[in-house]
Amino acid sequence: MVISYLGSLVQKLLRMKPKVVFVLGGPGAGKGTQCTNIVKKYGYTHISAGDLLRAERNKEGTQYGELIDIHIKEGKIVPVEITINLLKRAMDDTMAKDAAKNKFLIDGFPRNTNNLEGWNKFMDNDADVKFVLFFDCNNETCVERCLERGKGSGRTDDNVLSLQKRIQTYLQSTKPIIDLYAKEGKVRRVDGAKSVDEVFVEVQKIFDAENGIENV
Ligand code: C5P
Ligand code: MG
Repeated sequence: MVISYLGSLVQKLLRMKPKVVFVLGGPGAGKGTQCTNIVKKYGYTHISAGDLLRAERNKEGTQYGELIDIHIKEGKIVPVEITINLLKRAMDDTMAKDAAKNKFLIDGFPRNTNNLEGWNKFMDNDADVKFVLFFDCNNETCVERCLERGKGSGRTDDNVLSLQKRIQTYLQSTKPIIDLYAKEGKVRRVDGAKSVDEVFVEVQKIFDAENGIENV
């Protein structure tokens, strides 16, 4: 009786453990756009680290507003203690509303060693990272797209000066993280320079294959 109760509890916990896909790539590589498509087709919840940081910055009386603001304009990565709290809260809130919603696309994280270490320290036992979806896109296309977006996005970092810094941060800090995951065989690479529809065809192949494995 006790054993069967424990068994069902363990099963429940296992089922509820969040499944995470990290979504990485340079600025303008198509992370957010494709996440929207993936949410519609595969029922994931999209959590963008950048969106969460912008929302936190815009809150009134937030203690970290200025720090986040400066980091974003400079294309630098905010200390992980701030970001991980925002990510964790977003995941917890989603699952508190509906326990079945335990599949997450975490977009724009982990962006550097500090992000990765923070994840390993605070989250690694609480979530399963399934794979890293990597939108591989050349710098010119990335910058072009962000400048186009900048005409209407209102973002403080979609300008030439910030973009130069964001590209540097991507090359120096984020790419090595992607390479680390690649060594573990966890990276699913997509050519992000193609059109939105073409990229989504490739993305679907990846998610269909992953679901196929899971359903066996
Ligand atoms: O992903 P997105 O382009 O929205 O990120 C915008 C900015 O937010 C980054 O350039 C960086 O300054 C900040 N950010 C961060 N840490 C993350 C994700 C984003 O500091 N993990
Ligand atoms: Mg984005």
